[in-house]
Amino acid sequence: MQLSAPSKPIGAASTALLAEPPGEFQLRDGTRVLVRPIHPEDSDRLREGLHRLSAASRYHRFLATVSELSEAQLRYLTHVDQVDHLAWIALDPALSGEPALGVARCIRLPENPAMAEVAVTVLDAYQGRGLGTLLLGVLSRSAAAHGIRTFRAYVLEDNDAMLRIFRDLGADVGRADIGVCQLDVPVPEDPETLPDTPTGRVFKAVAARVGGGRPV
Ligand SMILES: CC(C)(COP(=O)(O)OP(=O)(O)OC[C@H]1O[C@@H](n2cnc3c(N)ncnc32)[C@H](O)[C@@H]1OP(=O)(O)O)[C@@H](O)C(=O)NCCC(=O)NCCS
Repeated sequence: MQLSAPSKPIGAASTALLAEPPGEFQLRDGTRVLVRPIHPEDSDRLREGLHRLSAASRYHRFLATVSELSEAQLRYLTHVDQVDHLAWIALDPALSGEPALGVARCIRLPENPAMAEVAVTVLDAYQGRGLGTLLLGVLSRSAAAHGIRTFRAYVLEDNDAMLRIFRDLGADVGRADIGVCQLDVPVPEDPETLPDTPTGRVFKAVAARVGGGRPV
């Protein structure tokens, strides 16, 4: 899913990338991560990241068996306008080359510009520390700023971690196919209206944050 460009261009013309917020965060276990908009130069990071991802995580992400990304797919995933296709990457600033630890992206639906298909991936070795929630929280703020009001996600029904995050945000859960849930997740403009749940509280903390290395 979301591996190639739609046949028609979508939405508004590209505008400048966001000015590189939000910066460095500290995960629950103290791990420092750098979160920034994805850049064209991140192509090798995505290729390496896919190689480091377990087969199960790849399947959960793409709902298909994916072992390599083509040059065209890498280009599509890294040349994003941050308006109709928004993507944020988390890097490990402590390691040489700052490898990718995770990515969250959403792509506006041409037939419904207030809705975007969302997906998030975190390397297996970094899962369960709050990074997926953090990346989605950052993505949701930039998506809200660009008029996206709902994330649509396709999630395998055994993907407990992903379902839990989206349910915690008040997702409307339906069925897309055998074994695949379709979730519509509110992306509120005003973070104060986020639900008072563990994920909702992290999203509020992300929205409130201005710089610094506060744990989220
Ligand atoms: C889904 C995914 C992005 C979550 O990222 P993550 O960094 O592990 O998520 P978080 O650490 O923010 O955890 C979110 C919550 O799920 C819980 N969780 C994590 N793994 C879980 C599991 N196997 N079963 C149930 N809950 C789980 C965590 O405890 C956490 O809850 P808490 O905040 O109450 O402690 C990550 O598991 C992943 O990349 N999976 C493979 C790709 C994928 O499935 N993408 C989704 C496509 S839309």
